[in-house]
Amino acid sequence: MSDPLHPLLRPRRLRATPALRQLVAETRVDPRDLVLPMFVREGAKEPVPIDSMPGVVQHTLESLRPALVEAAEVGIGGVMLFGIPEHKDARGSGAVDPKGILNVATRVAVETIGDALVVQTDLCLDEFTDHGHCGILAAPTGPGAEPVIDNDATLEVYREMALAQADAGSQLLGLSGMMDGQVAAVRDALDGGGFSNTAVLAYSAKYASVFYGPFREAVQSSLVGNRRTYQLDPSNRREGLREVELDIAEGADIVMVKPAMSYLDVLADTAAFSSVPVWAYQVSGEYSMIEAAAANGWIDRERAIHESVLSIRRAGADVVLTYFAVELARSLRYPARRSGRRAK
Ligand code: PBG
Repeated sequence: MSDPLHPLLRPRRLRATPALRQLVAETRVDPRDLVLPMFVREGAKEPVPIDSMPGVVQHTLESLRPALVEAAEVGIGGVMLFGIPEHKDARGSGAVDPKGILNVATRVAVETIGDALVVQTDLCLDEFTDHGHCGILAAPTGPGAEPVIDNDATLEVYREMALAQADAGSQLLGLSGMMDGQVAAVRDALDGGGFSNTAVLAYSAKYASVFYGPFREAVQSSLVGNRRTYQLDPSNRREGLREVELDIAEGADIVMVKPAMSYLDVLADTAAFSSVPVWAYQVSGEYSMIEAAAANGWIDRERAIHESVLSIRRAGADVVLTYFAVELARSLRYPARRSGRRAK
């Protein structure tokens, strides 16, 4: 008979020692499952710190190289490059120009580290347009009206951008613009241009999130207003899954959910049905919140980094894009140096 004072079932048994806990851990974080987003700024003479993202910089083409070598040495899986051009215009011409900063940085990255890391590029116009939107603006509407982004005209530019990035050596194009049909349009351009081996990472369930705030400083975005006519409404879970389904049908090689921590439900749902790898992006605001709380002494920084990425993996992400990638990889490789480890 069950005795309420002496339980028969004791799940705590498996939590008794560090060795046991490690043996029954269901999820692990491995350096190979991490991708580091990196910013490269055209014309910069020195790396430029980003105030809202302590510890993250806009690289020069020169400072990019040692940072890539370091990333390879700690064993992360890849890097995602973002470019910050000196000049912007309405069509984002810098994005399709082979001499544009992102394409130049990609060449540098591939030449420096191409065999050790998967070099990936953000395929979106927002860093390159003077209005800061991810696409081409349609003819101006009335004063005060929301700007209209011309979906299909934007696809034309994305196709050109894809060819420029593939030509520069990017192995994986991160389509983050949230235009309808962008995966099929880019896939077709790549195949037609002789780049059938260049893979597409679709930012499929990408939400119009406040947590991109620090990123806008990082890329010196010119955006006024918001992206709610193309990015997903944070209230919509089913619609996020529909976007994932469409991208897989259009030929996405990998799908992504973004941001990560506020969207773990969408991530778990996606992981449950996706036939292609599922990634998640721990975005700038998620990074900065941890940094800010840690700077105030309110949380243990290293443990917060580890637990946040672990939870994103547990929810179903095969790979996590995170600004903590290099640091986290190092602490996973050399656990003795990890403070707080013994206290766990
Ligand atoms: C679009 C893009 C954005 C991010 C990655 N790709 C900004 C946006 O959609 O507004 C955000 C990443 C982050 O916040 O860390 N080029």
